[in-house]
Amino acid sequence: MSILLTGGTGYIGSHVAVAVAQLGHEIVLYDNLSNSDEAVVTQIAQIIGRPLTFIRGDIRDTQLLQLTLRAHGVAVVVHLAGLKAVGESLVSPLDYYGNNVQGTISLMQAMKAEGVRKIVFSSSATVYGQPKYLPLDEAHSLSATSPYGRSKIHIEELLRDVAVSDPSWSIACLRYFNPAGAHDTFLMGDNPKGTPNNLMPFIAQVAMGKRARLEVFGDDFETEDGTGLRDYIHIMDLAEGHAAALEFLGSSQGWHAINLGTGQPYSVLQMIRSFESVSGAAVPFEISARRPGDVAACYANANKAKSVLGWAAKRNLREICESTWRFQQTLAQRLK
Ligand SMILES: NC(=O)c1ccc[n+]([C@@H]2O[C@H](COP(=O)([O-])OP(=O)(O)OC[C@H]3O[C@@H](n4cnc5c(N)ncnc54)[C@H](O)[C@@H]3O)[C@@H](O)[C@H]2O)c1
Repeated sequence: MSILLTGGTGYIGSHVAVAVAQLGHEIVLYDNLSNSDEAVVTQIAQIIGRPLTFIRGDIRDTQLLQLTLRAHGVAVVVHLAGLKAVGESLVSPLDYYGNNVQGTISLMQAMKAEGVRKIVFSSSATVYGQPKYLPLDEAHSLSATSPYGRSKIHIEELLRDVAVSDPSWSIACLRYFNPAGAHDTFLMGDNPKGTPNNLMPFIAQVAMGKRARLEVFGDDFETEDGTGLRDYIHIMDLAEGHAAALEFLGSSQGWHAINLGTGQPYSVLQMIRSFESVSGAAVPFEISARRPGDVAACYANANKAKSVLGWAAKRNLREICESTWRFQQTLAQRLK
């Protein structure tokens, strides 16, 4: 089967590409490289042991998408392309709605025109907003505290409307919790352009001495040590969750929202201590004020993924920290 991955050279896309290619599928990566590097294509090819197709393009270019779907006989799309920085979305909401929502409409139009009716969408636990109960299951109400979060809700809703309008569509919205860690070869991992938005790459860069210290936003939450609790999921578990979702779409129709998380939360201080213990490097930090919109705790009820996809996360926090650290060291070697 031929699978198109929008945002395929990004952090999550590159790991999904490897997991899916290793099942024998043909992979086409489609990305405008606004937040990734073409070099990852070579790394994926090296890991899977065969070449793959990369198209440099924007998801708002419906014509190029149509040509790509047709030329490669694409059967399923994994739609990961999007802007993802919460703070930036507050400053530039039009860019976020334009890129994420308009981009998805363009992709869906191209798929409709080419008769491709199966899509896996990268949604996020951010769609649950302020939790009313924990752990979060898929029946929890949706709300958002940023244009980024709202763009994910808008996309989920437009995908649901499409599925209702035409029952031949099969759509899975995977609500990721906090992806972290790197591929087992340590050739690929989270290597963001500019300042990292996520905790794990930030901790890793401090441990490597690339940044002086980590800023911990708030130590007065209602949690055991006062710092925020999150559900960190190993990137390879997440990638395998996509492989399971692709299989599920093969035999199901309609619209489905499914959490991909572990159900096991860790605080920011626990993450720092775990990383220090695995790496042997110090991670200096300072406490600053809470960021607007940050919630005390956010973690998944992952039962639906288990029952519907037959998937559950297998890797632990130590493996997340170890792979992140080894990836950072491999990266430093490469750049020498
Ligand atoms: N990383 C996380 O913590 C997290 C959590 C929940 C959901 N998500 C979602 O998962 C998806 C992938 O996230 P990621 O962490 O790999 O981010 P990433 O920035 O590493 O990857 C996204 C990719 O999309 C590309 N892209 C952006 N706009 C595009 C456009 N208009 N046309 C073509 N390509 C475009 C970027 O160049 C990048 O390679 C995103 O949709 C993100 O919102 C991520």
